Amino acid sequence: MPEKQQSIHGIWRNRWTFIFAATGSAVGLGNIWKFPYIAGENGGGAFVLVYLACILAIGVPIMIAEILLGRHGQYSPITSMRRIAAQSNHSKAWVLLGWFGALAGFLILSYYSVVAGWALAYIPKLGFGEMSQVTPDVAKKIFEDLLANPLTLVGWHTVFILLTAMVVARGVNKGLEKAVTILMPMLFLLLVILLGYSMMSGNFQDGLDFLFTFDFNKLTWDSVLEAMGHAFFTLSLGMGAIMAYGAYMPKNISIINTSLTIAFFDTLVAIIAGLVIFPIVFANGLEPGEGPGLMFVSLPIAFGHMGFGAFFGVLFFILVTFAAWSSAISLIEPSVAWAVERFNTTRFKATFFVALLAWVLGLGSVLSFNHWENMSILDGRNIFATLDFLTTNIMLPLGGLLIALFVGWVLQEQITRKELSPKIMQIYQLWRWFLRLVAPVAVLIILTVGLLEAFPEQKIAFTRFILDVFPSLKGD
Ligand code: PFF
Repeated sequence: MPEKQQSIHGIWRNRWTFIFAATGSAVGLGNIWKFPYIAGENGGGAFVLVYLACILAIGVPIMIAEILLGRHGQYSPITSMRRIAAQSNHSKAWVLLGWFGALAGFLILSYYSVVAGWALAYIPKLGFGEMSQVTPDVAKKIFEDLLANPLTLVGWHTVFILLTAMVVARGVNKGLEKAVTILMPMLFLLLVILLGYSMMSGNFQDGLDFLFTFDFNKLTWDSVLEAMGHAFFTLSLGMGAIMAYGAYMPKNISIINTSLTIAFFDTLVAIIAGLVIFPIVFANGLEPGEGPGLMFVSLPIAFGHMGFGAFFGVLFFILVTFAAWSSAISLIEPSVAWAVERFNTTRFKATFFVALLAWVLGLGSVLSFNHWENMSILDGRNIFATLDFLTTNIMLPLGGLLIALFVGWVLQEQITRKELSPKIMQIYQLWRWFLRLVAPVAVLIILTVGLLEAFPEQKIAFTRFILDVFPSLKGD
């Protein structure tokens, strides 16, 4: 591959802008909305431990692989994979990895934007006092009324997609870089203010106990699959977002150090979000296993009854919007960059088309909360739940697995060495060992067993098939 220092899309100004951008991608609804509620549904501590193990053993090694692949390729994930495969005489089929990722990003954006729209809708709700002193029934009704109204949902979904497109259309330096250097520090500031608030006004000890008491009886294979899928989702891995950002990374920045920094910040934000939400929930006698409504029902009730609740409630939902915004831009960047390269068109037009497509698909998610709520696409799941399950629990782990196999087993080692230029060989060897063996084997096992548990009927058929093929496995 010819040594090219700069991608045609631009280049991050320095190490910190890359860290802000990648952390901005990683920190999003996954940390603030999803992590607390799935931790709540899966019993807290033990789930958190599995999730942390997945971040370290699977997430970080694959993040390093994705960034190095992007920086080596210098283009959008699709074009990069095509070029890398062609120049190294590997199978052309590896380009499918790029396509698969762009598709996953696009599918995620379609429903992500709808949920981000709820957060936008809650800013005026809290700000204008609609939720002050609310009872649990009323808070539930306000959330249900929002979901029951497709037009309102479409309105906020549109606003959010427009916000996202506005940044991406302006390009890497004038758009992405500028947005993240403003949004990320504000996000951290808001988070620290809210943590202080939760420590003073919430039931902090109960929150800590809930997140860090490990009760393994509550752990099922389903929740292990959920924890692994979430590790990919929260680090934005397995779909090329981080690969695309890697293409804009200057050559002199250490990939290993920055990956560790990003994973650290992402985990920190998820834990702090849990420590903001659960103490407030417990202080008000509410349930942690509320599901997707945790942030939109329990939390506003809590804010509604606390000193300066409206003010801090508004701050909280602004925080959520910022986090979602900086993630959404990374969800469409791979498709937009590819469209610019492929059709030699302007960023503005490319962004417009991709955003429009995601907006249209998002209507399916909007309707999943009202008219099409009971439609069953996948084993009782409506469009929204199917997209969420399919992308998070299947597509991202599968994409990550392929990235691990490609970088670990197919790509020439001299390329990985050149990109990582390891100073401490033991760390490099450790990474390679995790990437080639630990991560793929773990993903394969968790994916297979988790999917079989998630689909009991298929599990019975599969067991029968195995017993037909290997009759000696039958016990008496
Ligand atoms: N990491 C984001 C979150 O936790 O909300 C979601 C996400 C963004 C997933 C970008 C995948 C991605 F490529």
